[in-house]
Amino acid sequence: MLLEGKAAVVTGSAVGIGRAIAVALAEEGAAVAGLDIDAVGNAETARLVRETGRQGLAVDCDMADRAQVRRAMNGALQRLGRIDVLVNNAAIYADTSLTGGDYESQTLAYERSLAICALGSFYCARAAVPAMLAAGGGDIVNVITEHIKEGHLMTGGAASGYDGAKWVQWRQVETWAAELAPRGIRVNGLCMGATDTPMLRAVSVAAAEAGMRAADVGRAVVNVLAHGADGPTGQSWLFGASGTPRARSLEEIAALAPA
Ligand SMILES: NC(=O)c1ccc[n+]([C@@H]2O[C@H](COP(=O)([O-])OP(=O)(O)OC[C@H]3O[C@@H](n4cnc5c(N)ncnc54)[C@H](O)[C@@H]3O)[C@@H](O)[C@H]2O)c1
Repeated sequence: MLLEGKAAVVTGSAVGIGRAIAVALAEEGAAVAGLDIDAVGNAETARLVRETGRQGLAVDCDMADRAQVRRAMNGALQRLGRIDVLVNNAAIYADTSLTGGDYESQTLAYERSLAICALGSFYCARAAVPAMLAAGGGDIVNVITEHIKEGHLMTGGAASGYDGAKWVQWRQVETWAAELAPRGIRVNGLCMGATDTPMLRAVSVAAAEAGMRAADVGRAVVNVLAHGADGPTGQSWLFGASGTPRARSLEEIAALAPA
């Protein structure tokens, strides 16, 4: 098994893609701590992880609060004993248009969008890297979006907070990879399209049903990790762009694995 004896932290693990990634990593042998603000959904994810026979922890955490993230990451490290893999998946998709709502609502939504996703990814990475160095290396995966790829911006301007946070996550991949490559830690990003989750269903049920399943993205993470210590770093992988038939998306996901 790819991750036998290893431990992973997944953020935004209570539903959707985060839950699917947590279960996919556990199926590969990893103990998994999920960090989420939704305690009920997160407890269910931990139960699904434990159903695979692996240690599964649900850790309450608001990713926008750096003190909470520090406590959550320290707690996860203490209970798992190590951290080999960090998946920065938590994000919100909020209306941050300049013409909607009022000053208070839109500026707050913009702050939360950036804080949960862009700052939260940094908080987790900063907390995880010392543990990865102690374990002799590791992997950070930022779950981004196809929006950051040329020609794939499709939010129509309503979610500049979401897209801004994703641009930060995208730049984190390259910059962190440059810093961490000599120290045995790889950093990669996933830039995928529509996936059937509560987030996308809230925007468009039709797009969700036409898109990938969350488990497909779980497989994509495993395939990227499967390259091991000599694997690629600093890459943001595009797959399953919106409008792609799912069968083709699955081929693109399979192609992420080592030949
Ligand atoms: N669904 C898609 O079509 C799609 C496409 C491309 C990229 N993505 C990305 O995939 C990731 C997961 O998206 P999803 O569709 O599963 O979303 P989702 O909204 O269905 O799930 C997001 C999870 O993040 C958690 N979360 C929200 N705010 C939090 C906070 N402050 N602290 C801790 N946890 C918090 C939620 O409780 C939830 O469990 C996101 O980064 C998203 O941008 C999704």
